[in-house]
Amino acid sequence: MTQPTQPTQPTQQSTWDAVDAYFSEQLVGHDPVLEAATAAADAAGLPRIAVAPNQGKLLHLLALAQGARRILEVGTLGGYSTIWLARALPADGTLISLELDPEHAEVARGNLARAGLEKVAEVRLGRAADSLAVLVEQGEEPFDLVFIDADKPSNPEYFRRALQLTRPGSLIIVDNVVRGGAIADAASTDPAVVATRALHELIAAEPRVTATSVQTVGSKGYDGFTLARVQG
Ligand code: SAH
Ligand code: DHB
Ligand code: MG
Repeated sequence: MTQPTQPTQPTQQSTWDAVDAYFSEQLVGHDPVLEAATAAADAAGLPRIAVAPNQGKLLHLLALAQGARRILEVGTLGGYSTIWLARALPADGTLISLELDPEHAEVARGNLARAGLEKVAEVRLGRAADSLAVLVEQGEEPFDLVFIDADKPSNPEYFRRALQLTRPGSLIIVDNVVRGGAIADAASTDPAVVATRALHELIAAEPRVTATSVQTVGSKGYDGFTLARVQG
């Protein structure tokens, strides 16, 4: 029996970059709106931590697969992932994105306006924990998809809130759950790792969701996503 061909050396960041560039070139292509959004974020000095183009498209595809009409995002930055998600919405859809930093929110609003998405996508300024509490108090209609991508130590709190703001069939996605493999270190004292491990314990004990986490490599290094579907 012949074995499938496997690389004999561990692959490197340069390889992951090349593969991401190839996929993005083939399957995302030249996108002036997204390129302008990245340029505006760079010009404003925002950290370069938005999802990669092919990851943004994954979020877009998941939102399309959900048939999402209402999307909630926790952590806007310059609105790069927001644009990908909002583009999956129908014209009368709604996206609410929560952001703490007023400069980030301002850049994101400009990017959403340039993308022609200002009618569907709104950036709410403030601590996400507070904004989420307000959404719950106001009895906001359930969201079809929630993307959690803000301060990682708050992941368990954001996930609990997401459960209050969704319905059976909704999808909750959490970014950056692997962080170079640190998630597997039970002795870690890094608050992001401790909290993301707590998130996994919470999910494991939560009968209302069925979930998995996947590792990813690419231009953003070695990381991963958690996907959780609220059960019917
Ligand atoms: N989703 C974006 C990246 C978000 S980066 C993208 O992929 O394009 C994380 C963002 O969360 C930053 O803009 C940061 O300012 C914001 N953030 C950090 N702590 C927060 C908090 N407590 N409440 C709301 N936003 C927060
Ligand atoms: C960081 C945050 C992110 O959301 C991300 O995708 C990558 C890095 C960070 O805070 O370093
Ligand atoms: Mg992220």
